[in-house]
Amino acid sequence: MNVIIIGSGYVGLTTGSALAYIGHNVTLIDKDDDKIKCLNSGNVPIRERGLKELLNEARATIRFTSDWDDFDQQADVVIIAVGTPSKENGDADLTHVEEVAAIIGQRLSKGAYPVIVNKSTVPVGTARRVGSIIEQTLRRRGIFQNVHVASNPEFLREGEALFDTFYPDRIVIGVESQAAGDVLRRLYQPLIAQDFIPPQGLPRPERFAEPTFFSTDQASAELIKYAANAFLAMKISFINEFANLAEKVGADIAEVAKGMGLDKRIGPRYLQAGIGWGGSCFGKDTRAILHTGRQYDCEMRLVQATIDSNERQREQVVRKLKEHMKALRGRTIGILGLSFKPNTDDLRDSPAIAIIRHLNELGAHVKAYDPMTMRKCQDAHPELFVEYCETAEDLFENCHAVVLATELEEFRHLPYDKLGKKMKRRFLLDGRNVLDESALTQAGFIYRGIGRCYESWEEESSSQAAQGL
Ligand code: UGA
Repeated sequence: MNVIIIGSGYVGLTTGSALAYIGHNVTLIDKDDDKIKCLNSGNVPIRERGLKELLNEARATIRFTSDWDDFDQQADVVIIAVGTPSKENGDADLTHVEEVAAIIGQRLSKGAYPVIVNKSTVPVGTARRVGSIIEQTLRRRGIFQNVHVASNPEFLREGEALFDTFYPDRIVIGVESQAAGDVLRRLYQPLIAQDFIPPQGLPRPERFAEPTFFSTDQASAELIKYAANAFLAMKISFINEFANLAEKVGADIAEVAKGMGLDKRIGPRYLQAGIGWGGSCFGKDTRAILHTGRQYDCEMRLVQATIDSNERQREQVVRKLKEHMKALRGRTIGILGLSFKPNTDDLRDSPAIAIIRHLNELGAHVKAYDPMTMRKCQDAHPELFVEYCETAEDLFENCHAVVLATELEEFRHLPYDKLGKKMKRRFLLDGRNVLDESALTQAGFIYRGIGRCYESWEEESSSQAAQGL
């Protein structure tokens, strides 16, 4: 099939390259000339596992352009995958989506009936709005025809977007007509049937069950995306609240999550307690759905609580540091990891940044080490007072405490024994519960995770003091 994708962000680019790989002819249009030049020269403007290799394999069937004259009138499907950032009031900003709809209306020729697909995360009703913008623009050109607009939300995790595209749990489409549904079923058939040869580096998981192709109405499909993200965020906040309680009552949250997750109705994923969720999606989408709720007089109390609880979770780190060290002014705190999750250089709404900001306010001296994101952080957050370190050794030097904020693989294998000797005080706060507690304790650290129970702080501190640490 002939497919046009508009927008070469991580959704457009991964979807486009996957569709090209499974045999479609893809034209990817983006107004950003630099991105198109980068793609045409064989490079990839975003960090996404396996993308560069996949694009190389699919290069014969995908082309990149910033010129709308390349709009293919033979296209069967036009996918809108442009950004929908947050407005001040939490609402999704649809400027780019609406601009693109108007251009499609200017470009479509009479008798061309591609299915227009909204892949961007958009509020309920946007598919209809896109349809009416295109039809109005066509009418102004003397073309009187209806367009089919479908909602087709994405459920891609940054960093794992290709894996999630090739091996999804479900493909959701929201359509008004059987014909549009049939076109999209044909588009995704290789993924539904799983009869493609897996790309290099992205093998099909063992016992992978064929994804469900779920066809529903437009509004429901649009709401599914928000409901899914809000639910995942709520699941994490839920386990984080129980982690806080576990600390008080002497339970271990990892055990609690395991025991809960064994119930198939709950499932084990997104129950990893820590310093809270971040990234460009959960925060934006939960705020957007709260805004929709307000617009329609529907209180979304659980979503509001999820956001509030996440804010508090980030503060837990600072609370624990205060508990351990009392005044933080003049103390040196090291932060291991800056991105909102591992294997990405994305700093958007990262808990680490919120923690640094809070520590700055309290007058602590903050050092940070993250091999992937340090430069980016320096540029993106000039307002933060941070001493960026080139190595983990530099980070630990003279610290009164170190906080692990992002669970990079590298951090699991640092020579903590050696690093601890460089610290003023061996206190390690593992904000993701990934380090080996007994090894760290043996190396003389006071180790604290999230949602675990320990002897009283005073007892350990005095035992450390007795050991001369
Ligand atoms: C999220 C969703 O998982 C995707 O399904 C969705 O398509 C995407 O948003 C989007 O709307 O575009 P992403 O933002 O890439 O994907 O991030 P996740 O991998 O889901 O992680 C989000 C945050 O939750 C991270 O800060 C992570 O550290 C945290 N997290 C995740 C936990 O604290 N505990 C967990 O158990 C899981």
